[in-house]
Amino acid sequence: MNVSDSERAATVLGDSGFEITSDEDTADIVLINTCSVREKAEHKLYTRVGRIRHSDRAMPTIGVMGCVAQLEGETLLRKIEGVDFVLGTRAVGRVADVIGRVLNGEEGIVDLGEREENYDWTVADTHRHSPYVAFVPIIEGCNKFCTYCIVPFSRGRERSLPAPEIVRQVEQLKASGVKEVHLIGQNVNSYRPDRQDDLQDFAGKSAFSKLLRAVAATGIERIKFTTSFPRDFHDDIVEAIETHENLCNWVHLPVQSGSNRTLAAMKRGHTIERYYKQIDRIRNASRDIAITTDIIVGFPGESEADFRDSVKMVEYCGFDMAYIFKYSPRPGTPAFALPDDVSLADKTIRFLELERAQKASQNERLRRYLNKTVQVLAENASTRSKGLTGHSTCHKVVNFSGSTGLLGSLVDVKITEIKSNSLFGELV
Ligand code: 5AD
Ligand code: SF4
Repeated sequence: MNVSDSERAATVLGDSGFEITSDEDTADIVLINTCSVREKAEHKLYTRVGRIRHSDRAMPTIGVMGCVAQLEGETLLRKIEGVDFVLGTRAVGRVADVIGRVLNGEEGIVDLGEREENYDWTVADTHRHSPYVAFVPIIEGCNKFCTYCIVPFSRGRERSLPAPEIVRQVEQLKASGVKEVHLIGQNVNSYRPDRQDDLQDFAGKSAFSKLLRAVAATGIERIKFTTSFPRDFHDDIVEAIETHENLCNWVHLPVQSGSNRTLAAMKRGHTIERYYKQIDRIRNASRDIAITTDIIVGFPGESEADFRDSVKMVEYCGFDMAYIFKYSPRPGTPAFALPDDVSLADKTIRFLELERAQKASQNERLRRYLNKTVQVLAENASTRSKGLTGHSTCHKVVNFSGSTGLLGSLVDVKITEIKSNSLFGELV
């Protein structure tokens, strides 16, 4: 979501005549996008602004956007010397106006307002992180209030974008040469647009699975989606993937813990047994679907036995990849009131042990790709080898030999070597 917001800000600024540079040292205006979901981003922001202030360069105008901007608002102006304006998570569309006002001498601008009614979600081709891959937000915000999480506070309530608008964007991206779209949102499968009728021609129980089929019908080469929320993950999503080849064979389904006690304390709304059933359904699909997840260790009250349940869970699920985090209290979240009673040393021990278990299971699982042919989108010339690099439909990084003339094409690659975070192969 944050990369998507930065691309949107660059688009709005580019449209208003600003020249976008990634060179912080020569920029007249520095816009810092912040994310406080997993890290103490405020401290990082403080250091970053301090570094600019203490450098020899003429002081630029500095703006802060993202989670920290939304949560801290005008206190940022007081706390961090050098910050000129603050732009909340839904105010990105007004970034050019706000900078215009700052350049006209207005001080202390803090815009934490809602999106404009006619907010334009498109990103200019030149400001996308890749010419071939595009993010398409389908739902923003979150209503789930998992007890550890800041997102419902920094991003506000769930709001789904109209299906015809999403389909129109995908068609436009396809026409401009984009090969892969990522439908993004905190919980894509909680997608619930105001007008359900727009999707009535598509099969499936949930609005999200219908949307997947509607997007698949555009004929764009590849569609990925992230993140899925276990409580709202139903079989119709797997059925859609089984039916439409251009819906990629990858599901990111954060589990967070293997212990029902911890899951309840996190208010995740799912038990581990139910999660296992979903894993079984995905595993038994007619296509080989890669599964990735997020896990937190050291949540308040997590006992050694709870942690063992997480290790067992990792062994059962056989994830293709897992992001593991040490619990970090976030002021303003319900869990902040609980004692952070797993010591940092124990969190680290649990993190390393779970990482070991995941790596072992991952290495085992990834072996299924050896000597198999996967379809890869050639995205970049590899910096390390002379070949190319890109992602497979199952969202693995694949390095392979090939010339730059192939960039932007979908190619078949036979996998010859497996490393823990990437695959290597040869064009077939
Ligand atoms: N501490 C640690 N990890 C967290 N996440 C979210 N909030 C916290 C927190 N307070 C992790 C979750 C989520 C991912 C995006 O970040 O695993 O799925
Ligand atoms: Fe955070 Fe839970 Fe919402 Fe995910 S579902 S963004 S973890 S509150």
